[in-house]
Amino acid sequence: MPESGAAAGGPAPPAGLAGTFELGGVVPVNRLGFGAMRLPGVWEESQDPRQAHRLLRRAVELGVNLIDTAHAYGPETSERLIAEALHPYPPNLIVATKAGYGPRGARGWAPDGRPETIRRHCQRSLEALRTERIDLLQLHTLDPAVPIEESVGAMVELQAKGKVGMLGVSNVSLQELDRARAVGEIVAVQNRYHLGDRASEDVLAACERAGIAFLPWFPIGAGALARADELQAVASAHDATAAQVALAWLLQRSPVLLPIPGTSSIAHLEENVAAAGLRLTSEEVRRLNG
Ligand SMILES: NC(=O)c1ccc[n+]([C@@H]2O[C@H](COP(=O)([O-])OP(=O)(O)OC[C@H]3O[C@@H](n4cnc5c(N)ncnc54)[C@H](OP(=O)(O)O)[C@@H]3O)[C@@H](O)[C@H]2O)c1
Repeated sequence: MPESGAAAGGPAPPAGLAGTFELGGVVPVNRLGFGAMRLPGVWEESQDPRQAHRLLRRAVELGVNLIDTAHAYGPETSERLIAEALHPYPPNLIVATKAGYGPRGARGWAPDGRPETIRRHCQRSLEALRTERIDLLQLHTLDPAVPIEESVGAMVELQAKGKVGMLGVSNVSLQELDRARAVGEIVAVQNRYHLGDRASEDVLAACERAGIAFLPWFPIGAGALARADELQAVASAHDATAAQVALAWLLQRSPVLLPIPGTSSIAHLEENVAAAGLRLTSEEVRRLNG
């Protein structure tokens, strides 16, 4: 992962993968990223970690240089697998992680946006990812018991200490995004958004106005869009798959959208990356919008 400002001065990332987006107007990433929540071994420890290593290395080889993970994925397993596979990190790779969600004793898995938890999760992420600085730290989700200003405030302090490069928020409404932006510079938003769920249109429009990256989670509808009959006709016309149509639609929907499809399979990874080269006609986009 680049140290502070290094990505801006380093070599440009390879062209392709649907072009680049500059995080914070400065740090370039290829628009088609990778979501590391479903890496083999994250949720079942019996899996051979070499499967996840191969997948991650193949993603980077194909030009992916934005990988999304979280302290919660495992917890920590996804981050550890990323470090095992890719550390020392290629200079242009951005690993985005998240704090503020995870196992919380008797409450089970729950949001925890208390500043001390944000600091603890960040520290654990630094260790798991074997880095001195998190490229992009996102608030995983809002804790109803903690004002977003306090959670993001803790992230701003971590940024000031050099432990975090850039800041993002996830699962936010328009109002929550505005409140977060009043506390720190937010360069990325991560909300659920795909062909079948466009509830975050207002947040997407705000990101477009402000030049903020929008990382749509569930870009393939958690796999459902890969099986959706409605996408098959368009897919057939391009000799493509429905999953590729779902990703191509996102890439054409807005230049600030940076899809992070997740997979446990190298074949699906390759298929998803190839979607960056699929160009839908305006008639097809109109049909899909409907
Ligand atoms: N911020 C949040 O709260 C939040 C919540 C959820 C997810 N996320 C992030 O978003 C990323 C993406 O979400 P996701 O992985 O849950 O959902 P997704 O990318 O929409 O879909 C992943 C599912 O689709 C399948 N799939 C992937 N590519 C496929 C293809 N080409 N053909 C057929 N099936 C395919 C995968 O199965 P196979 O393993 O068989 O390929 C997997 O079951 C996550 O990895 C994570 O980084 C964030």
